[in-house]
Amino acid sequence: MTAHYQASGNIAVITLDNPPVNGLGLSTRQGIAAAMEQANADKAITAIVITGAGKAFSGGADIREFGSPKAMAEPNLLSVIKLLEQSNKPVVAAVHSVCMGGGLELALGCHYRVAAPNCKVALPEVKLGLLPGAGGTQRLPRVIGVEAALNMIVSGDTVSSDMLAAIPGQQLFNKMAASADSLLEEAKAFATDMADVRPMPLVRDLKCKHPDGDAYFQFARNMVRGTAKNFPAPEKCLDAVQAATKRKFEDGMAFERDLFINLMWTAESRALRHVFMADRAASKIPDVPADTPKREIKQIAVIGAGTMGGGISMNFLNAGMPVVMLETKQEALDRGVATILKNYESQVKKGKLSQEVLDQRMGLLSTTLTYDDLKDADMVIEAVFEEMNVKEAVFKQLDAVMKPGAILASNTSTLDVDQIAAFTKRPQDVIGTHFFSPANVMKLLEVVRGKATAKDVLATVMALGKRIKKTSVVSGVCDGFIGNRMIEQYSRQAGFLLDEGCTPAQVDKAVEKFGFAMGPFRMGDLAGNDIGWAIRKRRAIDKPDITYSKTADLLCELGRYGQKTGAGWYDYAPGQRKAIPSTLVEDMVSEHRAKLGTPTRKIGDEEIVHRLVFSLINEAAHILEEGIASKASDIDMVYLTGYGFPLWRGGPMRYADEYGLFNVAQRMQQFAANPQDDATFWQPAPLLARLVAEGKTFTG
Ligand code: 3HC
Ligand code: NAI
Repeated sequence: MTAHYQASGNIAVITLDNPPVNGLGLSTRQGIAAAMEQANADKAITAIVITGAGKAFSGGADIREFGSPKAMAEPNLLSVIKLLEQSNKPVVAAVHSVCMGGGLELALGCHYRVAAPNCKVALPEVKLGLLPGAGGTQRLPRVIGVEAALNMIVSGDTVSSDMLAAIPGQQLFNKMAASADSLLEEAKAFATDMADVRPMPLVRDLKCKHPDGDAYFQFARNMVRGTAKNFPAPEKCLDAVQAATKRKFEDGMAFERDLFINLMWTAESRALRHVFMADRAASKIPDVPADTPKREIKQIAVIGAGTMGGGISMNFLNAGMPVVMLETKQEALDRGVATILKNYESQVKKGKLSQEVLDQRMGLLSTTLTYDDLKDADMVIEAVFEEMNVKEAVFKQLDAVMKPGAILASNTSTLDVDQIAAFTKRPQDVIGTHFFSPANVMKLLEVVRGKATAKDVLATVMALGKRIKKTSVVSGVCDGFIGNRMIEQYSRQAGFLLDEGCTPAQVDKAVEKFGFAMGPFRMGDLAGNDIGWAIRKRRAIDKPDITYSKTADLLCELGRYGQKTGAGWYDYAPGQRKAIPSTLVEDMVSEHRAKLGTPTRKIGDEEIVHRLVFSLINEAAHILEEGIASKASDIDMVYLTGYGFPLWRGGPMRYADEYGLFNVAQRMQQFAANPQDDATFWQPAPLLARLVAEGKTFTG
């Protein structure tokens, strides 16, 4: 069992011991129940203290058990909390480090709570598409007030124990310990003092009212509806807290339980729980153990001070690391530094950054025109023009000057990292770090593992990604890596939709209704349509069999590269980003269709969305099979953090599983029968076909 009993004089100490965060899994719950029985049976024991071993009091219900019979098995969390409430000896929670979800609910079931300073307290269930399901919505408002509790429950945000203890009249914490080190002793002393006090206080007996009642909840409901959009849980949180103010305690508990169980089965909650795990799984690389030694990275060098070089540098400056930027000309350096400064100044203007922090960050930035000045850097990231000969010249110079053991990274988006590594005599130190634009904003970092990349280099760069707050996902070497390789198929399919009768706005609207931040044509205008044009020109030589709609080339021939040229698939008013449907483009597409001479038809939103999303999924299946991505959940993280895939759908692989792989394959077969589509396009990837045949899923 993962909760232990120990008598300490007259006090029983129950310690939750279920690493990493003392999740309240079945064996922990059984341990608490057994320890409570022992404490209550022992005449020498006068009071009980519950605490957590290691780095948390408790992170809540054990997320790993969700969906398994263990999650609901007796004693469930509600029964355990009942045991605490019904104990004939007072129970004191000694709360430290992390007290979240079911962990906080457990503490609220105790008669008293003693907290260490700076402890992270939250009911974060809403972030998993749930609401607190073991009394949190009924008890928290009773101890910190309705408004403070509702804010915590609807947002899931963490609040420090010190801030909560400062709420006037709060009854959450009966005592604040001087430090985490003295917490247990102070809790035991407190328990000794309370041993004979009767009646023992229970949170359930406290009153729960809001002075403005319904008016307040109506106001709060409008706010929640406005922000929650595709997530059902936040409004259910509100319903449950409102019930706490209106119903008897036990009725409120039953109401909360019903809502909790219903939410547990929603696709949104399943998706959010998948994302929680996927996010943490991304840093786990099958053949690179967590204890792989890491190289020390203190100083960064960046080659190229253009769009990406500047944004990449900002990540490290933000993390307090010195950066030296190298360019070929002073003007380019001056431009790069001015852009970084402008970015920071705009944050200062918006009140998001202080002038002092701006000065500190700019103080960490230096520039040079000489490779010799890079010799102290522990890692260099190249972000020069996307041309192999330019990369070759740069990497040869880096090989000559960088100190032994320095990591040599390329931000290339399309070139072969193995070929780049081969320009050096240290291919084991070479890796790809594919940042997304704007690099100081976008969460995603594709870490491209070359065939020679050393394991400690990979482990170091993954850890560095965490330090600069990126979601880092490992990709093998291939054209486009994970994200762009998939998006190429999606863009091809978007082009075919135009050839068959859609307008760019119709496609974008359908995809945005599905939940993407942006449809493919608006995205093209933002990224620059010339990028795809260059790729298609290359493909015409490398892979002439690949078919594309000609519409995108025609657009580029008109110089309509997108927002940067003031026109693309859409028109843009000067200085504005609002996409205005363009009659010129629509006429151009119609003329092209007429030239093709194929019949056109009206295509519904469902077909548009599925042709695009299934294009992603089928290519992803190839990527998985080839080992470019090591797990399906990594692909989901790429699409959620780099491509605006709707969070509540959990990513393309999760979406495919939810839709049913059999259904995906069947729909693809129907698309393949469309004489206007490219039938080879819809050839199911072998992995997809195999999973369908075996009745399995991508994400397990
Ligand atoms: N159950 C099981 N494992 C958990 C867990 C939980 N509740 N919370 C975190 N973990 C695991 C993570 O999966 C990770 O495992 P790994 O090392 O194998 O990857 C490990 O703990 C460390 O997690 P983080 O990387 O997130 O570490 P941090 O130190 O940055 O954060 C934390 C720790 C603040 C606890 C953070 O993990 C967190 O916010 N966890 C979510 C807590 C949560 O949502 N609790 C509510 C659960 S639902 C519930 O309680 C229902 C109830 O109302 C009935
Ligand atoms: P950019 O054209 O804005 O900047 C490139 C910079 O490199 C210029 O300032 C140029 O003066 C400098 N440069 C060129 N040759 C150099 C050399 N030999 N030594 C030092 N500096 C040199 O290009 P951008 O967009 O920043 O792209 C850089 C790299 O990042 C490319 O490999 C690109 O494929 C990749 N990338 C670009 C993304 C984007 O959205 N722009 C996204 C992800 C990757």
